[in-house]
Amino acid sequence: TRPIQIAIDGPAAAGKSTIAKIVAEQLGYIYIDTGAMYRAITLKALNEGINMASNEEAGALLMKTEIDLQPSENGQLVFLDKKNVTEAIRSQHVTKAVSEMAAHELVRIRMVELQQQLAEGRGVVMDGRDIGTHVLPNAALKVFMSASVEERARRRFEENKKRNIETPLEELQDEIAKRDKMDSEREVAPLKKADDAIFIDTTSLTIQQAADEILTLAKERL
Ligand code: C5P
Repeated sequence: TRPIQIAIDGPAAAGKSTIAKIVAEQLGYIYIDTGAMYRAITLKALNEGINMASNEEAGALLMKTEIDLQPSENGQLVFLDKKNVTEAIRSQHVTKAVSEMAAHELVRIRMVELQQQLAEGRGVVMDGRDIGTHVLPNAALKVFMSASVEERARRRFEENKKRNIETPLEELQDEIAKRDKMDSEREVAPLKKADDAIFIDTTSLTIQQAADEILTLAKERL
């Protein structure tokens, strides 16, 4: 069968990357976490102290930056100018700043270009906020995945516990809600369900159940 493109969008901490990874593995496709790319440029902007509010400065910074994604056993490694930043991009510092960087038009134009190159001509599962609406508008399967903000904060809390990060639940919920608001209200390519995307509410689903639902939908389209 011919490989297809699968776009998975949704708000923060909805389980997109965990589920996308399983789906990609089952189908033998590559998995691309586009949020990691926005996180990487945000990390560099923070390190270099550029003016995060400036579209021009953010765009210029990205033009002289190399962001590489490489498949690994548990998902994906992220390299920023050849340095492994897979862990560093998950810090609260980066998480709190990323939506401001991601709102800039010059940043998004370049990222979409890179993402389309990565996906070209291959079986791919790509997750993000604007994949179904802008990056892969012709994807054979588009999913919009969500869960209640309480449930998403709880999941992130449990995930953090395993990595010895102790951010209080209320703070996580607050950060997630703020990021969703910024991502949904920005001018350029806001977080939005594509008209032809299938909505999956994962609030009361296990990871495996959500992955199975997507796999069933994918197989109907192969
Ligand atoms: O998916 P993740 O939570 O790692 O994404 C981090 C941030 O990157 C999002 O809150 C959003 O601001 C931005 N993003 C985006 N478009 C994408 C993926 C992520 O704007 N396709």
